[in-house]
Amino acid sequence: MSERGKVVILRELLPAGRQLLEEKFQVTSLGLDADRSQMKAAAAGADGLVTDLTFAVDDELLGAAGPQLKVVANFGVGYDNVDLAACAARGVTVTNTPGALTNATAELALALAMAAARDLPAAEKDLREGAWQGWDPRRWRGFELSGASIGVVGAGRIGGRFMELVAGFGGERLYTSRQPKPDLENRLGAERVELDELLARSDLISLHLPGSRESRHLIDERALRLMKRTAVLVNTGRGTLVDSAALIRALKEDRIGAAGLDVYEGEPDFDPGFLTAPRVALAPHIGSATYRSRDEMSRLVAANVFAAREGREPPNPVPGV
Ligand code: GLV
Repeated sequence: MSERGKVVILRELLPAGRQLLEEKFQVTSLGLDADRSQMKAAAAGADGLVTDLTFAVDDELLGAAGPQLKVVANFGVGYDNVDLAACAARGVTVTNTPGALTNATAELALALAMAAARDLPAAEKDLREGAWQGWDPRRWRGFELSGASIGVVGAGRIGGRFMELVAGFGGERLYTSRQPKPDLENRLGAERVELDELLARSDLISLHLPGSRESRHLIDERALRLMKRTAVLVNTGRGTLVDSAALIRALKEDRIGAAGLDVYEGEPDFDPGFLTAPRVALAPHIGSATYRSRDEMSRLVAANVFAAREGREPPNPVPGV
């Protein structure tokens, strides 16, 4: 171990965080194209690894780093890419970047909701391709969110912020959560219900749960069949929350109204059926992609590495490690 301590950024950390790390550590950054074997080789001897959601942080990678490894600092709020049990067994702290991306992700969920509800991507495509024949009273009729019942699945930080943003639409607000959220209930008149009830009552359903074995395919064929034919489904959580094939079928068979998606099963691959399904707004996992959020996330990564290296409690330890 070098005196300064060694931190390996296994892909990319923005300068806002990388420069902070460079003040105290010997920092190696592999860049976006690093493959698994380069990651394992570079990790050897690291005190800290900066990771992100695009690759698995498993026991093999931790083993390649070695027993001096103190912290895996994940650049993102989700950490379903990290084997928490393996980290715990090796005494490695895991951290994430909550808070920094709350506004950015909630705002993207709203953008996708509105784009999907009004079929904006298809309308824009028509215009760009020269297919627009002029104002037509019958065409491009979508769904209004004013007065809509809005269901937030997973009312944590991002789900709660989304609920604040949509409060102006004025309809009822429903949520699911393991714990009641008195703040959302008192301030926003939100009502905590079971998932099935939320799916059946909501005009707009926004998913804000982490990816996990328990949440995998929470929205499956059965769940989709509970929704209104006009329901708009938005997913900015994790692609694994939704059974892609079932959602594509539901859209193609007009069993739900529309969908707005930022995350996909098997990213960066995704089911090509989404490209031909009607009334979908698609984004390439950009929920946290604002200047402010990504810089703040980068700084949080650095703060977490500093604390863990110095033996202090980091600002954002992942629970259970
Ligand atoms: C992005 O998806 C994140 O988990 O931060």
